[in-house]
Amino acid sequence: MSDKPFVESCSGPCPPLCPETMPGTGACAVSLVPSEDQCRALWDAYDMLPNIRAHSLAVACIATTLARQAASAGFDVDVDAVRAAALLHDLAKTYTIRHGGNHSQLGGAWVQELTGNPALAQGIIHHVHWPFAVDIRSHFLPLSIIYSDKRVKHNRVVSLTERFDDLLHRYGATPDIRQRIGRSFAQAREIEQALVQNLGFDPDADIAHCRGLVE
Ligand SMILES: [Fe+2]
Repeated sequence: MSDKPFVESCSGPCPPLCPETMPGTGACAVSLVPSEDQCRALWDAYDMLPNIRAHSLAVACIATTLARQAASAGFDVDVDAVRAAALLHDLAKTYTIRHGGNHSQLGGAWVQELTGNPALAQGIIHHVHWPFAVDIRSHFLPLSIIYSDKRVKHNRVVSLTERFDDLLHRYGATPDIRQRIGRSFAQAREIEQALVQNLGFDPDADIAHCRGLVE
């Protein structure tokens, strides 16, 4: 795998697209489901800012908790894949802060190229809003990432209400944007309800351990 996409699109020093290549073949050493170490190597390769790493760790803590509950409830869920998608969901954020663009689409494209795993790419591309029906059994990975991301304000675990108040305050400049934020809020509530009903998820107690992680 080459660093061509970065070289073509970035300005200034460009990080490598693949953090490590296989000896002999030169193929990228990132697995279909990247390990914790591989995700952290990607953070380094893509120069992820420290606050985005802290945010990603808290999101991954919540998503992993949900994935374990879903697996226990008999869902067909790959817990490691959910965790990897959560750790990588903002992989392109630093780049788009510096150069503009859509961080979820770009991050999803990079992760698809790095891992060859469309399930991870799908979860990253749609981590802001799921444009289909909220069916947590069929689409657990993307919906769990959306929900987990909306329970973390910067690096703090908060309620959906606190997170959305903050989003409205920071980004709600026009009626259009406020309407979009409202739709995402309604969707996050719908996902939360589905998690409560299907997994017996407790939105406070079950992720209390994620609070201590970064605060
Ligand atoms: Fe994001």
